[in-house]
Amino acid sequence: MCYTAEEFTAKEGHPAIDELEQKAREQAVIENFKPACLCNKIRKGTVLKAIQAGAKTFEQVSKRTGVGTGPCGGRRCGSMVRGMLGEPVVSCGECGWPVLVGASPRVCPRCEYAKQET
Ligand code: FES
Repeated sequence: MCYTAEEFTAKEGHPAIDELEQKAREQAVIENFKPACLCNKIRKGTVLKAIQAGAKTFEQVSKRTGVGTGPCGGRRCGSMVRGMLGEPVVSCGECGWPVLVGASPRVCPRCEYAKQET
């Protein structure tokens, strides 16, 4: 979308910036609703709140939210939460789930768990 200089600098606001901010807010809401812990149905927004409240490790996030306490024992959500805590991750090419860069072997925990269940 293009704006004239007058539109962009109008006193009522900046349409392009307002639009970008709105899209960023919508994207943040969508991200917060995505799952973090599949076993316990805990969303990324819940994990993010725990991190913002001071949790610095997976164990601290687990204590505050319950992530990692499901049947898989955190095998699937561990990489998601650790990635949210700042550990380097890459996205699984198959499902998009975060995979820890330092994991050995570097396999997607979500895909591996699904294969074991079948
Ligand atoms: S996905 Fe979190 S405990 Fe299984």
